[in-house]
This record gives sequence, C-alpha cells and structure tokens, in this order.
Amino acid sequence: MTTLLHLDSSARRASVSREVGDAFADAWRRANPSGRHVHRDLAAEPVPFIGEAWTELCDYVLANQITDIGRYKEAVRTPAQAEAWAVLEPLLDELVAADVVLIATPMYNFSVPASLKAWIDQVTFPKMSLAGRRFVIASARGGSYVPGAPREPYDHQERFLRDFIAGHFGVEDVAAVAAELVNSRLDPALAGRRAAHEKSYADALAAARELGGRY
Ligand SMILES: Cc1cc2nc3c(=O)[nH]c(=O)nc-3n(C[C@H](O)[C@H](O)[C@H](O)COP(=O)(O)O)c2cc1C
Repeated sequence: MTTLLHLDSSARRASVSREVGDAFADAWRRANPSGRHVHRDLAAEPVPFIGEAWTELCDYVLANQITDIGRYKEAVRTPAQAEAWAVLEPLLDELVAADVVLIATPMYNFSVPASLKAWIDQVTFPKMSLAGRRFVIASARGGSYVPGAPREPYDHQERFLRDFIAGHFGVEDVAAVAAELVNSRLDPALAGRRAAHEKSYADALAAARELGGRY
C-alpha cells in the first residue's frame, strides 16, 4: 500500500502553506484511493528538541558505522537513551514507511519554523538513506524569492530543505510549490503586489493539485 506522510508546520490554522499542502494531499488521495494518508501537525503537537541522550545515540551510530536504519536501536544503552529513543522511534518509523513525504511549511525568518526543524533533528542520523522516496515542499512566504527577485539570496527555506533532503536523506526527487507575497494581504507597503500574490497563490494551488494527481 502506498503511503503519504503529510507534515504541517504553520503556527496558524488559517494558513496558506496548509492550504497548498492540503491541495496536494486531496488530489493524492483521489489518485490513490487505497493509499494511506498519515498527517502530523508539528505546530499543534510539537516534537521535543533533541537532548544530550539523543546525541549519544547519534554518536554511537556514527562511530559504529551503522547505516541500516533498522539497526539504530542497538545504540540504546542507558535509561536516558531509551527515553530519547521512545520519542524518536515513532517519528522515524512514520518517515521510513512513507513513499511520499509532503512538507507544508511557512517561511519564518528566511528559514523554516522551529517546529519543523525539531522534527528534522529528531529523525536525521548520519549517512542514512531514504532513497526511493519522493518529497514535496508546499510553502508560503510573505515576500518574493523567485529567481531575479532582490530577496532571492535570502531563501533559506526551500533551498535549505532541498539541500537537506538531498544531502542527508539521499533523495533527489524533490518538487517544490510556493505561494509568494502573502504579506500583501496585510502590509499596506505591499498593496501594489497583491495581484502578483493572487496569481502566485492560484498557481501554487493548481501546481499542488496537479502534482498530487500524478504521485
Ligand atoms: C514568525 C514569522 C516570521 C516570518 N518571516 C518571514 C520572512 O523572513 N520572510 C518572508 O517573506 N515572510 C515571513 N513571514 C511571513 C510568512 O512567511 C507568511 O505569513 C506565510 O503566509 C506564512 O505561512 P502560513 O500562511 O502557512 O502560516 C513570517 C511570518 C511569521 C509569523
């Protein structure tokens, strides 16, 4: 059975990144009626930051060259490490079981929310491979970061996720859809960009639906 892991990370319930992610997930469910849709809301139910015991598990995996995710549990040797493992194991199991991972994320301070980064820190081990999976990034930003925009070099949201997914998960199959200029809904200084936002928003929803329908 094919499985979609769908992560949300906006602190808002009425959120553009949630809408774009939902557009993908709705189309994916229609295209995969017997598929499994697993939804995790990292903002509503945050995962804890990693602690020292987590780093001990990570160091053991690295020092012992354990690259098989199924063997990570061998690193658990103390009660504190067992506690850290109990937090990360269900998150990791959920990720490994997914065929498609949808990351819906706002841009916060040019990057991703701490809620999403906390999840990334929990599930990422040295030299792990998630090859064979597909990732989709559904994002929303207050400004514009398209090629040629003055703020293009400040995009540490989509660029970070692409680099991270390729560099740490070994996955090159990454699609990204972004709704830009969302702040034009609120900021009088961006009122002149409202039409550009409406187009970016409509295009992002359409692209997310199109992708979801063929994944
Ligand atoms: C804490 C916070 C930080 C933000 N930082 C940025 C930023 O650095 N660049 C930007 O373009 N927009 C920024 N924004 C605007 C959001 O990216 C925008 O509101 C977007 O729609 C958020 O996604 P959401 O609608 O899914 O919550 C920020 C918003 C918040 C709440």
